Amino acid sequence: CGIIGYVGPQGAQRVLVDALRRMEYRGYDSAGIALVGPDGIASAKKAGKLVNLENELEASPIKDANLGIGHTRWATHGAPSDANAHPHVSANGRVALIHNGIIENFASLKAELVAEGVPFKSETDSEVAAQMLGREVERGASLADALRAVSRRLEGAFTLVAVDADDTGTLVASRRNSPLVVGVGEGEMFVASDVAAFIEHTREAVEMGQDEVVEVTASGYRVTDFRGNETQGKPYHVDWDLSAAEKGGFDWFMRKEIHEQPQAVADTLLGRFDADRRLTLDEVRISEAELRTIDKIVIVACGTAFYAGLVAKYAIEHWTRVPCEVEIASEFRYRDPIITGRTLVVTISQSGETADTLMAVRHAREQGAKVIAICNTNGSTIPRESDAVLYTHAGPEIGVASTKGFMTQVAACYLLGLYLAQVRGTKYGDEIATIMRELESMPAKIQKVLDAQQQVLDLAAELVDSKTVLFLGRHVGYPVALEGALKLKEIAYLHAEGFPAGELKHGPIALVEQDLPVFVIVPPQGRDQLHDKVVSNIQEVRARGARTIVLVEEGDHEVEPYADVLIRLPQASTLLQPLLATVPLQVFACELATLLGHDADQPRNLAKSVTVE
Ligand code: G6P
Repeated sequence: CGIIGYVGPQGAQRVLVDALRRMEYRGYDSAGIALVGPDGIASAKKAGKLVNLENELEASPIKDANLGIGHTRWATHGAPSDANAHPHVSANGRVALIHNGIIENFASLKAELVAEGVPFKSETDSEVAAQMLGREVERGASLADALRAVSRRLEGAFTLVAVDADDTGTLVASRRNSPLVVGVGEGEMFVASDVAAFIEHTREAVEMGQDEVVEVTASGYRVTDFRGNETQGKPYHVDWDLSAAEKGGFDWFMRKEIHEQPQAVADTLLGRFDADRRLTLDEVRISEAELRTIDKIVIVACGTAFYAGLVAKYAIEHWTRVPCEVEIASEFRYRDPIITGRTLVVTISQSGETADTLMAVRHAREQGAKVIAICNTNGSTIPRESDAVLYTHAGPEIGVASTKGFMTQVAACYLLGLYLAQVRGTKYGDEIATIMRELESMPAKIQKVLDAQQQVLDLAAELVDSKTVLFLGRHVGYPVALEGALKLKEIAYLHAEGFPAGELKHGPIALVEQDLPVFVIVPPQGRDQLHDKVVSNIQEVRARGARTIVLVEEGDHEVEPYADVLIRLPQASTLLQPLLATVPLQVFACELATLLGHDADQPRNLAKSVTVE
């Protein structure tokens, strides 16, 4: 699901295909382009990877032009096939259109068009928009007026970009609940779902608001709402460059991103204190008085971000003494959750566009709750619709399986916990400063874990034939175990499970058989019994034949007799240990996927940002 539109002096075909390549990481199953020249619209589209489209363009070339649109599709309505791929050209040949999202009322709109005799070529909801637009233009509407009229009639989520066969200089785009950004070059313009698509041409971008249409020519753009009233796009400068969107010598973006984690965590922690040594968030539209009335915190997120939320619960409850629940975003609003004006909802989303999470935000706000977003993507929909934002500064995350996204989310959750403790007075300034100092020491420790990764790479080679891998942890080690297992499922396609180590004897231990690899995250040796309990759990699985791979802090010798493999972690307090223990598990998954010959950056069936519910 990547969208690109181009108008300017360059040959559009190359610009579009290159842009689609930069957006491959978003996940897709077909690709296509349409160009508009003096002879009208020419298009090519193919199911499968981009290379199929490139081969098609080589076998049957289409005439290059200076205006065009390109799309990578991730199937929702209709299977991934050539016919269902975008762009869709209207039956009268007047417009070509690309679409991201889901048009929820497409069935009734399609029935109307079919009754009027419009022939359809695909099974997609998107073609409905193309046909509607074609008819409007034929009746004499300008392309922009036509798009506004069509957008008003659509329900659901959409980014639409369209071109007119009779106009070689203009493209139009509209958006609702789905990303769209305008790229402003010198004498050339772009529209895309993502700045990565045009970053090699320009770093000047314009953010589009909800329910807006933009009309773009080589020399400028004009934004309106769906009624045609002029509005202002929000211009901004992209503060990362092409090199950040390239692999920089690594075999995978994922591996590069794992190595960027010390910097990413440091960047996320940077500059959080104001002149009075008080912690601050990025954008706050909630008063401190309101935050003091909060009686419950609910964290909602999906996938890896959900696991970051599970870590957050321990820290937030410990530091603020406010009850904190963590919930999968797609479950949240459908169970009639108990949300009041005194509930604080915290959403965590790398992309800021995940539909399940966005819908949870809207539901929470409808119930009167305040919403704080933890997000990595500036200006994306979730932070825009929230009452406050804490941005993670991980830079673009290209690998579909989140790594630096997760680590910076965990770091941001600690900051949020400390911020709430400060506002509510459950921690004093010097206590907060002490925890912050420890947090600030974490990037160097993460680097130490990375420096010692050869052992983990060797381990992956040794375990390459495993059919199942288990991960055990307690307390904050439990979400780390879940994340370790998820990484293996996502990119190595391996059956892996994470369990709370204490729950083992209540069921999962039946899975343990000779030589089954079991990773165990051992909490720091400390004042409570947690550490000793986990050591007992290691003994329990080892007695049943498991091969134990034990992640444990330096200086802890107690586990040595029960560990087949010891992975040493720098010392840290229990609550902060996830920032260290997660790293070897990411490295292990990335290496195993590589050895198994899988594409670690674009795992099958997965998308980076899932903008449908
Ligand atoms: C998708 C990705 C996951 C990610 C989840 C949440 O399913 O494949 O890796 O954890 O979305 O994404 P978000 O952008 O909301 O953090």
